[in-house]
Amino acid sequence: MSIELLAETAQAMVAPGKGIIAIDESTGTIAKRFASVGIENTEENRRAYRELLLTTPRLNEHISGAILYDETIRQSTKDGVPFAKYMADNGMIPGIKVDKGAHPLAGCPGELVTEGLDGLRERLQEYYKLGARFAKWRAVINIGDNMPSGTCIESNAHALARYAALCQECGLVPMVEPEVIMDGDHDIETCYEVTEATLRSLFDALYQQNVVLEGTILKASMVIPGKTCDEQVDVEEVAESTVMCLKSTVPAIMPGVVFLSGGQSDEQSTAHLNAMNQMGNLPWPLSFSYGRAMQQAALKLWAKDMKGNYAAAQKTVFERAKENGQAAQGKWEG
Ligand code: 13P
Repeated sequence: MSIELLAETAQAMVAPGKGIIAIDESTGTIAKRFASVGIENTEENRRAYRELLLTTPRLNEHISGAILYDETIRQSTKDGVPFAKYMADNGMIPGIKVDKGAHPLAGCPGELVTEGLDGLRERLQEYYKLGARFAKWRAVINIGDNMPSGTCIESNAHALARYAALCQECGLVPMVEPEVIMDGDHDIETCYEVTEATLRSLFDALYQQNVVLEGTILKASMVIPGKTCDEQVDVEEVAESTVMCLKSTVPAIMPGVVFLSGGQSDEQSTAHLNAMNQMGNLPWPLSFSYGRAMQQAALKLWAKDMKGNYAAAQKTVFERAKENGQAAQGKWEG
């Protein structure tokens, strides 16, 4: 591996005013998204939908790359151009989700650990040949009664670090994603404490596994109250808490941090990112790697009329990319 190449890719992923679109839903997850708008979950519908997203005109003005799913990186446009080639030809970096999902953690009822390390080196080598230059692994940290346990945090951090080291060996930038889940009635302070402990454990594990931080991207969740918490807070409080938590845990040498949307509305996700960037004086670029908050408007439109609304759906993808690209520079005007 070349550290310079990894660092170059990582920096390009968070170039000024650009972020990532996450379209790496597993077949099970996209089934839920399609079902919510009445689309049949066939391979052709999944392909056509990913083509709509990736071929959005001028997407590359605000999108540096996309995270694909195993099926998607093997698919092509209707004209026969593999999606990864289409992206590279249009100045966007292909990424790939490589974890095999979150499974029950033995000995810790209700908690999850992400699996997928067995055979990962060979899969990464294949994805590199297919054109991927970064890879994502998502750990799930739930907040609840006596949760998360130290065992859950440490097991997930260890797996993330093992995966990250393998990625770098294979020439792929690891996008490490420890997602603190928004479900629950916990307050913002609890989310802060859990996020802080999770990130401390993650960076400790990355250090132990000799992961080069210059060639790594952090995909973080925001510090935010649980969805059913009675004490919701304003945009500034989410922004300030998130930035403080990141500053106290994430080394300044990291090339960038991108956020997941995690169930926030489109507007919230953009407003929070914008407020953080307006604070200024940040050690790293803060950008986005949204799935739902990039796609949900487009999916609804496309579902109503796949042919008639095709261009309109692409227009909303572009608008969401543009707004989030502005927010990544603190220039979103709402
Ligand atoms: P959301 O933005 O919908 O949370 O998805 C981002 C992602 O990639 C989660 O792993």
